[in-house]
Amino acid sequence: MRFDVLTLFPDMVRGPLEHSILGRALAAGRLEVGVHDIRAHGIGRHRVVDDTPYGGGSGMVMRVDVLDAAIAAVRRPDSRVVLMDPAGARFDQAAARRLAAVPHLVLVCGHYEGVDGRVREHLVDEALSIGDYVLTGGELAALVVLDAVARLVPGVLGNPDSLAEESFSGDDPRLLEAPCYTRPATWRGWSVPEVLLSGHHARIAAWRRERALALTRRVRPDRLAGPPAPAEE
Ligand SMILES: C[S@@+](CC[C@H](N)C(=O)[O-])C[C@H]1O[C@@H](n2cnc3c(N)ncnc32)[C@H](O)[C@@H]1O
Repeated sequence: MRFDVLTLFPDMVRGPLEHSILGRALAAGRLEVGVHDIRAHGIGRHRVVDDTPYGGGSGMVMRVDVLDAAIAAVRRPDSRVVLMDPAGARFDQAAARRLAAVPHLVLVCGHYEGVDGRVREHLVDEALSIGDYVLTGGELAALVVLDAVARLVPGVLGNPDSLAEESFSGDDPRLLEAPCYTRPATWRGWSVPEVLLSGHHARIAAWRRERALALTRRVRPDRLAGPPAPAEE
């Protein structure tokens, strides 16, 4: 899978890609990421990328002609072009799964007051928000999307089994994952639940499911509001 990120601050995006799982996947060629400076498509000698908003108001707006050129330079017939936008659909694990099946994902980062409305209306395939808050720019949002999508690409995670067992995944994606523990079995009097030391796989699986349900009911009751998964039925 290939990602291309369009940004005014390429170094903000490149740094986090050098580390850990994504860094290894990139080095091994399991993913490709291009990071492109939108300013390369800026207007005139000063490579201008923004202008004042029509109708007045504060801040500067990123120009549609500049973004049109930046997107055209990377778009392929099989691309999905996504604008990072607080007014976009909420990004979640289901969206990550959907985007992980796309061969080429282009992430467009806004900045300043945002981007000209025609970018969303005519130039991108969808807009995504990572939550109900406003960031200074789309770079951190694009990295969140890139990270969540990339780890679902086959070969990126060392242990793909973990994908089926984690929050928002597996046979009941409504659930958060049950808490996990490791050595020491007791620390400052805090003991690991006995069942996890029993070696009894069926009892451990039942305990994990029960704890996942209880945790979800306590911290995210909204996730259980829909119809139950077949396993729970
Ligand atoms: C300062 S924000 C613009 C906010 C815009 N004026 C508004 O009120 O909705 C600049 C850029 O950051 C990115 N951004 C900010 N918050 C975001 C969020 N929650 N999700 C995705 N992108 C976000 C977008 O690319 C946006 O164009």
